[in-house]
Formats: sequence, structure tokens, C-alpha cells
Amino acid sequence: MRRILVTAALPYANGPIHIGHLVEYLQTDIWVRFQKLRGNDCRYFCADDTHGTAIMISAKKAGVSEEEFIAGVNAEHQRDFADFHIEFDNYGSTHSDENRELCGEIWKSIRAAGLVKEDEIEQLFDPEAGTFLADRFVRGTCPKCGAPDQPGDNCSKCGTTYTPAELVDSRSTLSGATPEVRKAQHEFIELEQLHGFLDEWTQTSGALQPEVTNYLRGHFLGEPENPEPLRDWDISRPAPYFGFEIPDSPSNYWYVWFDAPIGYMASTKQWCDRNGESFDDWWKSDGCEIHHFIGKDITYFHTLFWPGMLKTAGFSLPTKVHIHGFLTVDGEKMSKSKGTFVAARTYLKHLDPSYLRYFYASKLSSKVDDIDLSIDEFIAKVNTDLVGKVVNLASRAAKFVQQTGLSKKYPDDGGLFQAAATAGDEIAQAYEECEYSKAMRLIMQLADQANPYVEDAKPWELRKDESQADRLQDVCTVALNLFRQLAVYLAPVLPKLAEQAGELLNDPITSWNQSQTPLVGTPVNKFKHMLQRVEEKKVHAMIEESKESVADAGAPDDDVASPEAADKWDDPGTELESEPLAEECTFDDFMRVDLRVARVVEAEQVPEARKLLKLKLSLGGGVYKQVFAGIKAAYEPEQLIGRMVVCVANLAPRKMKFGVSEGMVVASGPGGEEVFVLSPDEGAKVGQRVH
Ligand code: MSP
Ligand code: ZN
Repeated sequence: MRRILVTAALPYANGPIHIGHLVEYLQTDIWVRFQKLRGNDCRYFCADDTHGTAIMISAKKAGVSEEEFIAGVNAEHQRDFADFHIEFDNYGSTHSDENRELCGEIWKSIRAAGLVKEDEIEQLFDPEAGTFLADRFVRGTCPKCGAPDQPGDNCSKCGTTYTPAELVDSRSTLSGATPEVRKAQHEFIELEQLHGFLDEWTQTSGALQPEVTNYLRGHFLGEPENPEPLRDWDISRPAPYFGFEIPDSPSNYWYVWFDAPIGYMASTKQWCDRNGESFDDWWKSDGCEIHHFIGKDITYFHTLFWPGMLKTAGFSLPTKVHIHGFLTVDGEKMSKSKGTFVAARTYLKHLDPSYLRYFYASKLSSKVDDIDLSIDEFIAKVNTDLVGKVVNLASRAAKFVQQTGLSKKYPDDGGLFQAAATAGDEIAQAYEECEYSKAMRLIMQLADQANPYVEDAKPWELRKDESQADRLQDVCTVALNLFRQLAVYLAPVLPKLAEQAGELLNDPITSWNQSQTPLVGTPVNKFKHMLQRVEEKKVHAMIEESKESVADAGAPDDDVASPEAADKWDDPGTELESEPLAEECTFDDFMRVDLRVARVVEAEQVPEARKLLKLKLSLGGGVYKQVFAGIKAAYEPEQLIGRMVVCVANLAPRKMKFGVSEGMVVASGPGGEEVFVLSPDEGAKVGQRVH
């Protein structure tokens, strides 16, 4: 029996759980349930991540104290998780006494090891909101690669870490104000002192996926013969800050990312105290495995800072950090305006949680790749696999043995049960390695072998012939046993279905071993509905309900969805570098420019001009604009005639050498042959405003 401590990242206590989060909490729950089913002493700990500026702001907005605010969110989170059948052994909060104490202890060790230094630094202060700005609340242009709209701590485009003050064109996302730079005394951890240890641990311990190992070497650690120094880690924040004050650095608070992972321990400690367990058996013992499940966006914290802290303070290092990708919906990042940013609660109003559990399982692997929730695939998978192949097996057989129960002796099934029992090892290995999609594939192959057995044996016909009563009982005994076997294999993913299978056959599913021996002689209960088919209209209703008009969306989509989603297109940052983003403008500023769809009705050369074509644009209804456009090197007049373009229709007319230009045609590119005129998508009408 293995002793295994498992965590999922602690969700921020400033918003509801959504289907993106669930990729993580479900996959972790599946792994833990699998380990428990195998008989291991496995525990799942989590907590809310409650500190930092974000929560201060949210509480202020809600008009309550931070403590009240996080208590409300905590209750909500726990309800959401429970309703998705996610079962924690303890769900705590980083704002707990246990956490404060552990933070103090670990801090002391880090100081004693000589890793702390003090430095005065410049931090951004939002003069309108009256607070220092957490990294997340500053956005601006990456100082290294020029990517626009990046968060204050690291660039999602090129991975560089920096301080918020280094951002170009920074602005506060709280108020939109341009932050002021203020000086304050901060505490730093000199991570570079741990370089050698981190090199070895990340590169050779086997705790990380190969792609992560490479990523860390390429982006932070450097090659062993050519190491890159690790930056000092600024772990304090001046008041006002919602968090724990640093005992030996008054009016400074630990940065939320210092106390957050310690929250894993604090949650463990609460459970230990409640259950008479020794905390050290879990966090300081070679006999205990520690597994963290996290998303790729927080890799840095869990693979460099966290092991560094653990090592220094004398705790066990993670056995494995399982890193997953981000959720996309129909190939795009989750979007509030499209209704694909679905809150857990909204999902539950319309759909059964088992659907999502199974769907995610069928998509997840041990790779860091993003996973896509295609709505059509979601519906098809659930209906074909779960309802069509698994539940059907039980529903077609159970009713015929309600009177008799299962046969006393397991009948000859042509080797089906034994073959599926043998497959158990491979399925278990797939779960163990987080290759859930493989596990689901193997299980569905077994279902594909079980179903033809029932179709050939036709219990619904056997029942019409009384002389076939024994045969009917045998056929149903086989069918129900094959169903039960699938229910055991699926139990980590579908605990509800396993429970229903246990009830149906009067034999609760509690162990993986139940897949190895058939059940005989037990009574069979009345068949109750297990899982309905997914109805497409319910999925659409859920999406509809999740739609927020762009105007009342709380955060811009970029704040919440995959920071790396854009990376799959691999567009270089060179264009932005050569022309950085303009100063921010208000919506009103933008609306002063009247952009219209127009049709090019005439286009001709201006022989005397080097760069210009003369265009006549129609706005419809007999309204025309004459425009001289600098696109001569890029377009022949013939290419343009008849085409729809976008024009700046309220630009002040300008007298040029060859005539008056009454507008502009919108195009991108540096000029010369590199000019690209914009056109609206099909369906746009001449004269329509563009906004
Ligand atoms: N509070 C930090 C974690 C601290 S752990 C000591 C945090 N919270 S979070 O609420 O933003 O995210 C919690 C987890 O959910 C993270 O592992 C994150 O990667 C994951 N996900 C959040 N949105 C996600 C998707 N859209 N898709 C997949 N996982 C996502 O980070
Ligand atoms: Zn960058």
C-alpha cells in the first residue's frame, strides 16, 4: 500500500469555478479515486487561495470585509466541487492559522539558510485605487519581445519574467490609471543560490514531464555549461495588502505566491489534526509520495520556487508535478461573449456532471497540450459511449433477472469476462500514468466486445420462451457482470455510475479487484435510470445562459483564458516591436472615428504620383468619396474595382497635389508592396459602420 499525498492548485478566491478549472480538479479527483480504489492510502488536499490585491479589490467592491468575502467564495467553491463529485479529504483556506504558522516556520528556515536579502525597489502604485498593484493588475508591453497587453510578472508570449515597473506603457487594470512608481523596502529570496539543486532536481529527478524539463532549461536555468542566473524572487508586499504580515519585517506582507503553496501543507495539517495523523509522515517522510497537479501557467512557481522552498526548509520534494494544458472550446479560448466561459454552477443547471467527467477523461493525456471541448464531440461521445455502450448493457439485461437474481455459477461467456479482467492491468497503468484517454479507449473496446454478446443472445426474445428461463438468467448474468466490470474500471471517472451499479447488484464497488472475479447469486434490484442522453438543446441553453454581452463582462477575455492559446499560431512579435501599441484610448475616442464599409467603384492610376491610386468609394445611396490611397506598388486598379473595403469616412478632407482626398482606405503593412487592404467578411453591406 502506497501513501500518496495529492494536491490540485488552490483556486483564487475571487471568482467562481469554471469549466477551465475543472480540467484540473476533475483529473486530479480521477487520479485520487483511482489510487483509493487500488487500495492505496491516498489523500486529496486543496484550499482556496485567498490573499493578495485581487481579493482586496473584490471585497471592497462587494462592500464586505476580506474575511467575509473569502468565506462566501469558499462555501461556493466547495459546493461546486461537491456537485461535480470532486471529493477532497480536506478543503482549507490559505487564510488559516495553520498556514500562518507554517509560513513563519518556512520563512525562518529560509532566513537561516542565508537566502533572504532586503532591497529597496520601485513598485507600481495605482493612485486612483489607492493601492500597490499586484503583478496581475498591471498590463503593458513586454520589455523583451514587445508583445502587447502582458501581465505584470511574466510574458505569456516569450516567457520572460520581469518586474511590473519594467513593463512598457503600463496601466492598472483596476482603474485604467497609469501607475506611479513608488519606492518600498522588499524582501527577496536569492533563488540563484539554489541553482545547482534546481538544475539537478528539474533535469534528473524524474518529477517532471520531459517537455517541462526542457522548457525550464531553455527559459530559466540555461544549459549546465552555460547557466543563466535565476532572478531574485520578490516575496514581500508593502501594506495595504490582504495576507500575513511578515513577523520580522513589520508592515510587509508575504506575497501571495509565497503563502499559497504552503497552503497545501496547511490543508494537510487540518486533516492530520482531525484524524490523529502525524503531519511529518506526510511531508517529511520518504515513505510518502507527493503529487501536485497544476496548469501550465503556474509551472514556474511549482517547479522552481516551491521545490526551492521545500528543500531549504527540510520538507520532502514533490515526487511528481503533473502539468496540464488549457481548455479551449471548439478550438478557441473560453470567451464570455461567446458563452463558452461556463461557470461550474451554470453547467450544473443544465447538464449532468458525469458527462464532463467522462469527456475530459476521454481527452486527457500525460502531455502538457491544451485540450479542446468540441460541443459536437462532447454530445457524441457521451451518447455513444456512456449511454449507448455502457448503460445500455445494464438496462437491456437487468429487468429480466429482477425476480431470479444472478445465476449461482458464472456461465460460459466465451472468455469475455476473463479477457476483460486481464485488460485491467493495462487500464490501471494508463490511469497511473495519467493517460486517461488511453484508459477510456481500452474500456470502450471492452464495451464493444460485451455489446455484441447481448445482441446475439437476445434476452428480450429468450424471455418469451419459458423453456429458456435458465439460459435467460445466464445471459443476463454475463451481461450484468460485463457491465459491472466496466463500472469498476470507470469508477474513478464516474463514481455515480459505480454507485448505481453497486446498488443494482447489491454489491457496492469499493475495490479495483472487483473487476477480477464475477459476481454470482446476488439479487438484482429494480433498474433505475443511470444516465440520460445529452440533449443538444440543453447544451445550447447552457451556452446561452453563459453569454455576457461584451459590455457587462467583468474581465476582458484575455484576463481569464489561456495565456498561451495564441502561441499555437507562432506569430512573431516583430511587427509590434517595429510599431509599438499606441497610447490607450477610450471607447468614446474610438467612436469619433467613423469607419464604414465601402465599395471601390472606380480605381485609376495617377501617372504623376509615385505611390498613389485614385479611388472612388461608394457608401451606398449615391454617396461617394474620392480617396487618394498610397497603394500603387501593391495593387493594380483592376484588382480593386468592385471590392468592399473599410474607409475612414469622417476624416477631414485634405487637399493634395492631384485633388482632394476625402477619406482613407484601411490597410496594414509598412508600405510599398507590403500593403494589405482590409475587407469585411461576406454579408457586410456597403455603408455599414465598423465598430
Ligand atoms: N491561485 C493560483 C494557484 C496557487 S497554487 C499554490 C491559481 N489559481 S487559478 O484559480 O487561477 O487556477 C487554478 C488552477 O486552474 C491552475 O492550475 C490553472 O492552471 C487551472 N486553470 C485555470 N483556468 C484554466 C483553463 N482555462 N484550462 C485549464 N486549466 C485552467 O493559479
Ligand atoms: Zn515577451
